[in-house]
Amino acid sequence: MQRAHSSHSPAHRWPLMASALALALSLAVLAEARADAASPRAAATEDYVPDVGQDGKDVIWVPTPQTLVDKMLDMAQVTPQDRLMDLGSGDGRTVITAAQRGLTAKGIEYNPDLVALSRSNAAKAGVSRRATFEVADLFETDLSQADVITMFLLSTINEKLRPKLLELPPGTRIVSNTFRMGDWEPDASETVTEACQTYCNALLWVVPARVDGRWQVGGRTLQLEQRYQMLSGKLGSSEISDARMDGRTISFTADGIRYTGEVNGATMQGSAAGKGEWSARRI
Ligand SMILES: C[S@@+](CC[C@H](N)C(=O)[O-])C[C@H]1O[C@@H](n2cnc3c(N)ncnc32)[C@H](O)[C@@H]1O
Repeated sequence: MQRAHSSHSPAHRWPLMASALALALSLAVLAEARADAASPRAAATEDYVPDVGQDGKDVIWVPTPQTLVDKMLDMAQVTPQDRLMDLGSGDGRTVITAAQRGLTAKGIEYNPDLVALSRSNAAKAGVSRRATFEVADLFETDLSQADVITMFLLSTINEKLRPKLLELPPGTRIVSNTFRMGDWEPDASETVTEACQTYCNALLWVVPARVDGRWQVGGRTLQLEQRYQMLSGKLGSSEISDARMDGRTISFTADGIRYTGEVNGATMQGSAAGKGEWSARRI
């Protein structure tokens, strides 16, 4: 096009070039119109502005304040090696923030307009490769590839998801904006006060390894009862106390000795304060 306007163009060619230019322009306009017609979402994205409180499939859209997004990711101690999934990802802010921290992050969102907006926001932030979005129902989604799951849903939905979440590999972190998970108490809870008026509380759960049952520890039996991350039971004839899981890490006190260890399937290994190493195998 610039060449058509060049001062080096011979004068006698102008009428011909002007017609060629007009034809090219009309073809371009036609092609753009066709592309828009074929992709109405893409055309709509530019103008789409969601309303806070607008309907969603199971939950309305309300965005998490950015300071809480940051807090949620801090609490999950995310690293660039983590794969994050945001369930009901809204305008994409959590996924985009995670991608800006180097994570591979995916948003699951039922509303296609919000997904289109999220993709456009990710492109503007320059993180489209690491921040992806899928139009999908969060209840139908495979969560097994996520190391970190974030959500801002409702307590009832969190409870419905709970059995699926507890099946995830031990150590998977789940962070919820404000809403709890029934009687599965969070491992940590933090509130932000800066630039946050409502929904300012973040709750963290770490999927615990399953350890309930009987274990052989030297010549003694470790009998464990487990309720989510909380443990009770006996080592030999001694009751254990302060007993819990933190992902794969087990800790308890028996006979005044603090035991900590790592669970790996049917074995545990660790140290007992002042007493050296200990190990256990499932029986
Ligand atoms: C409260 S908003 C949270 C948005 C975003 N996660 C954030 O924290 O800013 C809940 C989102 O879940 C979406 N949603 C509701 N039901 C859903 C479902 N069954 N599957 C996927 N997304 C859903 C809504 O469209 C809405 O965008």
